[in-house]
Amino acid sequence: MSVLKGKKILLGITAGIAAYKTAHLVRLFVKLGAEVKVLMTPAAKDFITPLTLSTLSKNAVHSEFYSKEEENELWNNHVELGLWADLMLIAPATANTLSKMASGTADNLLLATYLSAKCPVYFAPAMDLDMYKHPSTRESISKLQSFKNLFIPAASGELASGLVGEGRMAEPEEIVDFIEKDLVQKLPFYGKKVLITAGPTYEAIDPVRFIGNHSSGKMGFELAKQAANLGAEVLLIAGPSSEQISHSLISKRDVVSAAEMFEAVFSHYESVDIAIAAAAVADFTPLTARSEKIKNKEENLSLSLKPTQDILAAMGAQKKQQFLVGFALETQNELENAKEKLRRKNLDLIVLNSLKDKGAGFSVDTNKITLIDKTNKISEFALKSKQLVAFDIFANIQSQLDA
Ligand code: CTP
Repeated sequence: MSVLKGKKILLGITAGIAAYKTAHLVRLFVKLGAEVKVLMTPAAKDFITPLTLSTLSKNAVHSEFYSKEEENELWNNHVELGLWADLMLIAPATANTLSKMASGTADNLLLATYLSAKCPVYFAPAMDLDMYKHPSTRESISKLQSFKNLFIPAASGELASGLVGEGRMAEPEEIVDFIEKDLVQKLPFYGKKVLITAGPTYEAIDPVRFIGNHSSGKMGFELAKQAANLGAEVLLIAGPSSEQISHSLISKRDVVSAAEMFEAVFSHYESVDIAIAAAAVADFTPLTARSEKIKNKEENLSLSLKPTQDILAAMGAQKKQQFLVGFALETQNELENAKEKLRRKNLDLIVLNSLKDKGAGFSVDTNKITLIDKTNKISEFALKSKQLVAFDIFANIQSQLDA
């Protein structure tokens, strides 16, 4: 999933030959789940038609302060457009537009909207090499950077004039990549490494049978998504689960047994900033797994079990910089048991699910949690989707890390 999903993007197109590439740019944004509205300078319409852009963006394209084609003239409100956007991108940005942006000229809708925008503004210049090198253009670019606008440098290559040099607009893919990276860097958990365990573990009895549990893995997977949405680099260590996940910041390591999960956790634990144990790890495993399938003719089959290692308790015992979060599923004396578990396993936060709450716990899409931190501060939450529960858990972690 891209950080651009759900983002509202205002794309300002000015009159350069590179404008033809903006059709592809709009498609890339839309494909990543962003909503795009296009503004053009009147002259940009000579390079690409508004119809192409409105079809691809599924939104009306504006270039004038008034929509003159309407029977009743409509005011295209630049202030509203500026406030609507999560980010504005001017691409291609001609030398003329850069200079007007730098000096505060507002003689077209695009420029007036630029002046009204409160969101981050990116600009990708495109022009001939001598224009790009000119001190006046350089001055405009540095002035815009001093306004905290974000400069997407032009590339070198063959230009429309036939000359070869710097001035070609960055390719649409490079522009998208630039913006995605910039947005990720601004996220609150950027640079943090998060390890999450999820799902059940299966303990082999013989080659075809195992001891398992009903954990779906949903809670851990939602936590991984939320951590990545906040910019963290996530390692998800998952037992067998049918949940799917795909995000550039998440890597997933599949394990089967408690012993494998233990091994996977401790090959990474040392370097992580936050660790969350959301897995429902088997507490017992067969003393030995039979190498051949057990025949049904065996009478009075008894299995000898030995306890598995408590992964969370081991993480607590070796804790250094890590912020450690555990789960507790309790049926009685919930708060007291959870507080005791928090202390015993040396946690920073414990997420308590009570089995008494309808809609909470295993295999359902919802959960009802109570968070208890190291100072015994208790926060109770309503029944909600596991996605929103993950949001609440990370909001708590963030407030503790910021404190
Ligand atoms: N956990 C773990 N490794 C285990 C068992 C549990 O990492 N072998 C973690 C779970 O991921 C969860 C927490 O410990 O975060 C849950 O503990 P739980 O099984 O509820 O409690 P226990 O400490 O095993 O105690 P009790 O048997 O009293 O419930």
